[in-house]
Order: sequence, then C-alpha cells, then structure tokens
Amino acid sequence: MTQDELKQAVAQAAADYVAREVPAGSIIGVGTGSTANCFIDALAAHKDRYAGAVASSEATRKRLEGHGIPVLDLNDVTHIPVYVDGADEIDGGLNMIKGGGGALTREKIVAAVAERFVCIADGSKRVEVMGRFPLPVEVIPMARAQVARELEKLGGKPVLRAGFVTDNGNVILDVHGLRITDPKGLEARINQMVGVVTNGLFAMRPANLLLLGTADGVKSFI
Ligand code: 5RP
Repeated sequence: MTQDELKQAVAQAAADYVAREVPAGSIIGVGTGSTANCFIDALAAHKDRYAGAVASSEATRKRLEGHGIPVLDLNDVTHIPVYVDGADEIDGGLNMIKGGGGALTREKIVAAVAERFVCIADGSKRVEVMGRFPLPVEVIPMARAQVARELEKLGGKPVLRAGFVTDNGNVILDVHGLRITDPKGLEARINQMVGVVTNGLFAMRPANLLLLGTADGVKSFI
C-alpha cells in the first residue's frame, strides 16, 4: 500500500469510529494536514449526522465548508466529544509531535476542549523516542532570536521556517536534534519561555486512541 492509501484507510477508520461512537447532532473537532484532509473527505459522507465541526486551521475550515459542513467558532461550543487529527511522530505513550503544517496552536486549543483525541497516522509516524522530526515552536515574531537562544540551551538547533506565517500571525522555529525522553517535562519547559505561544509536543494532552495504518491493516492502540 502507498502512504496515501494508508492515510485514506486510517481516515475512513476514524470516520467509521466517529459514526459509531459519537451521538448524532454532535460537533466534531477536526485537525490539519494531509491525513486530516482524508478524514474530512470521509466525514463528508455522513455530514448530516453532525451539527458541524470546529476547525484547527483556516485550511481545514475551507475544506470543511467546501463539503458543506458547517464550521463553528470554538467560543460558541462547550462540548466536542472527539477531535481527529494526524501527527508528525507518535510514541508508545501516545505522546505526539505535531505542527508540521504549522497549525499546532489551534490544534492544541481544540484538542484541549475535546473529550477524546483520535490520532490518525500511517505507520511511518510511530517511533520509540520522538525528536527525529524537528519540534515546531510557534513564537511571537519579536521574540524569535531570544527564544532561539533559549532553545539552543536545551541542546536543540532551531531553524526559522522560511516564508511561513501561522494563522495567528506568528513565526515557527523548527527545533532539530532533540531526543525527547521526557515529553511532558520538555513541553512544559518550552511553553514557559517568554515569547513562545506553544510548542508542538502533545504530551500533557496525548491521544486517547491511535489508528495506525500498516500493510496488515488499520491497528488500534489505546
Ligand atoms: C499540522 C499537523 C499535522 O497533523 C501533522 O503535520 C501531520 O500531517 P500529515 O497528515 O500531512 O502528515 O500537526 O500542523
């Protein structure tokens, strides 16, 4: 199976999971990226079953609306039973690195509201120790150089994501060379740096369920 076919398989499995587990009339939290896009396309088949969706990025909002799925403002929503999103890396504790698409802050906000986080990923994303994928950190533009110096003190090599501005008007530093053995501790430490909006570690709020696309089919991990 190609990587695209694996993404489609996990996206369909997630759409089936949501149709089975989530009451009709619910609002669904929707992530960002190529795997999340496959999920949006699969969700569209059951769209009348849901009241609408909350989007984790402008790109996702446009894709949902393109399918005729109503997109709600998170401030008008109190309950999201499930949030479905991809990941750049995921470990055995279902901690993740996210933000390859630059949507990490809104993803973390929607995930914080959601009751359950369902991660959908092809097998290449599953790792023993995270850090091979550079850790994205969203930073207020005027703090870029100061935050980069602080990240270097952790042993990382921050690289400004060239020509990229987040949906929130900020920049991204991608931190190379980390070996993340304490995901929760590192998430908290980076978030405390002045000028950091958030970082792409999802360890304080890991996934509740991983649907992993493999050559042997979609496997579930809890
Ligand atoms: C976007 C993300 C994505 O979930 C992550 O980058 C995975 O993307 P893809 O499904 O395209 O591999 O965090 O900010």
